[in-house]
Amino acid sequence: MTKLKFAVLPGDYIGPEVMSEALRVLVAATAPAGLELDYEIAPVGGAGIDEQGQALPDSTLQTCRQADAILFGSVGGPKWENLPPQEQPERAALLPLRKAFGLFANIRPGLLYPELTDASPLKSERIPEGIDIVCIRELTGGIYFGQPKRTTQLDNGEYQAIDTMVYQTSEIERIAEVAAITARGRGGRVCSVDKANVLETSVLWRKTVVNYFAEKHPDLELTHMYVDNAAMQLARDPNQFDVLFTENMFGDILSDEMAVICGSLGMMSSASLGVQRNGHGHPFGLFEPAGGTAPDIAGKGVANPCAQILSGAMLLRYSFGQEELAHRIEAAVRATVTKDGLRTGDIAFGREPVGTKAMADAIIARLAR
Ligand code: IPM
Ligand code: MG
Repeated sequence: MTKLKFAVLPGDYIGPEVMSEALRVLVAATAPAGLELDYEIAPVGGAGIDEQGQALPDSTLQTCRQADAILFGSVGGPKWENLPPQEQPERAALLPLRKAFGLFANIRPGLLYPELTDASPLKSERIPEGIDIVCIRELTGGIYFGQPKRTTQLDNGEYQAIDTMVYQTSEIERIAEVAAITARGRGGRVCSVDKANVLETSVLWRKTVVNYFAEKHPDLELTHMYVDNAAMQLARDPNQFDVLFTENMFGDILSDEMAVICGSLGMMSSASLGVQRNGHGHPFGLFEPAGGTAPDIAGKGVANPCAQILSGAMLLRYSFGQEELAHRIEAAVRATVTKDGLRTGDIAFGREPVGTKAMADAIIARLAR
């Protein structure tokens, strides 16, 4: 039996609730294909702080190092919000993980089923077919990690803080390749987003992307947009994009905008792929829902498990090369929501909402068909 070895980091509040359902779905999807899930659960975020005094305990990092991928839940919440910014669970867990595994490529699908257009703050008539785009965000460079990065006190007593946005050609090229591959599997169109009218890093970004596509992917359609315009265009007509491709901080902001126009955060998954290949010859990756820990509904059994389940599908696709199984899970989620009409509270719109477990049960039943 082929074993799929991955680390499971459920995190806080609804994290563990949706994670256990995602694991049930993953077992149901992979067992018939003769695959065995070999996962180890480890604390992260607030759970890491409470259990071991660190948002990313050394033992958790060790578990991740021994695995071929990470299935991540969500971290943070009111219990830890008085900690200093650099100790906040989100930042103190995610950023070191990205750095440790060189997770440079963040892939966030912006998918809204036509049946769920009511969930979007955009008027339904603007998106009659729903939304289907994807954001590729550079994740280990730019202003998040550039040096110097510090706060100092000036002679006159006031404080001065500095962050540095840095990019090298090779960092831009490797994420351009991910954007190109992604576009190849979809509509073949890449829109590269930058601020080349102001920033040096963006001038280099644009030049590098133009050269890279001309040389390696001349058949793909490449366009460019300034980030301020991209933010407007996304709200005006999201489907004008196919693959939205950008640097770290612009991607942080635009991907949240994309998430909100795609309706419920409970449906949004993501992949962060690393430079290393794992034991299966595929990229090591971290897979996580975009939605957060939802402390207000934690412990009630009502959270939407779909984002976590869809993140599990991405894990199968990208880190284990199981495209067909990933697709089956995505189709099962879609059919459960759109054909069976099962809805958790976040996407109910007047329907009787079902709980976390019932949703997962229905997805598993769909998989068995
Ligand atoms: C994200 C988050 C993180 C980021 C935070 C929690 C550090 O917002 O994954 O988009 O800014 O990258
Ligand atoms: Mg963000």
